[in-house]
Amino acid sequence: MDFTEETAVTAVRDSFAGTADPRLRELLDGLVGHLHAYVRETRPTPAEWESAIGFLTEAGQKCDDTRQELILLSDVLGVSMLVETINGQADGTESTVLGPFHVVASPPRESGDNIDLVGGGRPCVVTARVVSTAGEPVPGASVDVWQCNKDGFYDVQQPGIQPLGNGRGLFATDAEGRVWFRTVVPSHYPIPADGPVGRLLRATGRHPFRPAHIHFIVAAPGHRTLTTHMFVADSPYLDSDAVFAVKTSLVVDFREIDDEALAERYQVSAPFRLAAFDIVLEAAGEVPTRPVA
Ligand code: BEZ
Ligand code: FE
Repeated sequence: MDFTEETAVTAVRDSFAGTADPRLRELLDGLVGHLHAYVRETRPTPAEWESAIGFLTEAGQKCDDTRQELILLSDVLGVSMLVETINGQADGTESTVLGPFHVVASPPRESGDNIDLVGGGRPCVVTARVVSTAGEPVPGASVDVWQCNKDGFYDVQQPGIQPLGNGRGLFATDAEGRVWFRTVVPSHYPIPADGPVGRLLRATGRHPFRPAHIHFIVAAPGHRTLTTHMFVADSPYLDSDAVFAVKTSLVVDFREIDDEALAERYQVSAPFRLAAFDIVLEAAGEVPTRPVA
């Protein structure tokens, strides 16, 4: 049978009919169906298709050990967050994207440590409590945190200016599931925009900014590992995150505290910001049941 607009999808799907893995077959069927529908609908010229392939080629060539332009593309298209949302916890704390800056191991730290190794920002205390969906504390959970500095840069973006490990810490929760640390309030910042994804944003009038946040990966035996952020409630760009990662449940007040006694208890200088993050972990093996809206 001739390859025509009408027969194309079936011809290509049939070519994959021998795929042994049923899930791979399902994924390929869907991909071919949607990709062909996109092309039939938008009718790109050969020059436009070539330019799209050129864009993807450039994105691939931009990747190295520390730069992943294809994930960034998935991020700005909202696909990373869609995958997160579909696979997120049903009853636990909501998840968000991992992002590209979890590239060095966080130094092990004790509760109360200061993860800001530089100073100069607005002092901040973060307290967190990890509980199960039944509200029971989860002791011994590992809490991996990383954040940018007051100017919006991660340590790995400023070698020689920030020491490696600045803004990072690997903590363990105590018997009550608690952990706390000192830091500085992170800034909002732009995603890496010096590649093809940045060009796409500029060509479409989109800004590259993310609202201020602290990243968390929380893991404990018998529980689902959670990758999420805590967003700073008074940050710009909460309503227009370049990677669509904001969930209202993750936006936390960083309260201004001007209380010398409390400052002394937390070993910071007043005034400081105080933020509390409640983290709920589902049991491992629980299937997400959050309904499709
Ligand atoms: C981040 O929050 O570190 C991030 C997430 C997605 C793209 C770029 C940066
Ligand atoms: Fe980030």
